[in-house]
Amino acid sequence: MHCYHSSFFTLSVQEKKLIAVNGNWYDITNFIDYHPGGTIINRFVGKDASSVFQAFHKPTTLKHRKPVAKVQVNHELDAINEAFVNLGEWFERQGYFKTDYYWYCRKLIVTFCMLGTCMGFVCWVESPYRLFGAIALAAFWQQCGFFMHDAEHNQLTRDRNLDSWIGVFFATMCFGVSSSWWRHNHFIHHALTACVHYETNFFDPQMREPVWVQNWKLYPFYNPRLNVGVSRFST
Ligand code: HEM
Repeated sequence: MHCYHSSFFTLSVQEKKLIAVNGNWYDITNFIDYHPGGTIINRFVGKDASSVFQAFHKPTTLKHRKPVAKVQVNHELDAINEAFVNLGEWFERQGYFKTDYYWYCRKLIVTFCMLGTCMGFVCWVESPYRLFGAIALAAFWQQCGFFMHDAEHNQLTRDRNLDSWIGVFFATMCFGVSSSWWRHNHFIHHALTACVHYETNFFDPQMREPVWVQNWKLYPFYNPRLNVGVSRFST
């Protein structure tokens, strides 16, 4: 399996389901079925999940949870995890995660102008210029996909419920894609990005959906060529 995440097993898991976060093991045996992020958590049982944990959770999420043991550090892998966590904190300090509402308002206006343009072409323009309406509609859908993405990441209002309704509006109503299906797949995509099991398939569902360009056939096809290209370039 090729997986670019640090994962190490230092504690015998027995019947308990344990996850390591920031140097501590947490017992999630009774919580796992109620996890708000869904079943993706199962993939990290017995592993160090510090970096994915930081990516998906508020810093206060573990405040009321008692760790059951300290992690025995695997220095090489832990360095990767630590670097990732530090990078995330640095982005936070730089303010990259702050929502720029002015920017989103402009984007919203442009997006609905595209829908208006589409309607204008369809209703008031004769063929063959009506085709421009299709282009405007494609651009509108594409931008709805973008809003869906940010809403499902809780990036818009930071209120999980409200963002999820905004996601339903843009994804399900405007774009025609189930927002919860997309959200589920997208969480796996972020947690197991580029994780590939060549004999079976991708772990990352968004690398094999036939609707996306990254068809599963393409990855083994491009990978050796990319490697050759990169090695030629770097020698
Ligand atoms: C000690 C283990 C964990 C606990 C106690 C935990 C708890 C929670 C809680 C309480 C939430 C709600 C949001 C929040 O309060 O931050 C959440 C959301 C989530 N968790 Fe976990 N979690 C754990 C591990 C994981 C792991 C290993 C993953 C792997 C990817 C994961 C993925 C997610 C996702 C995708 C969400 C939804 C985030 C969103 O809506 O934007 N969690 N988790």
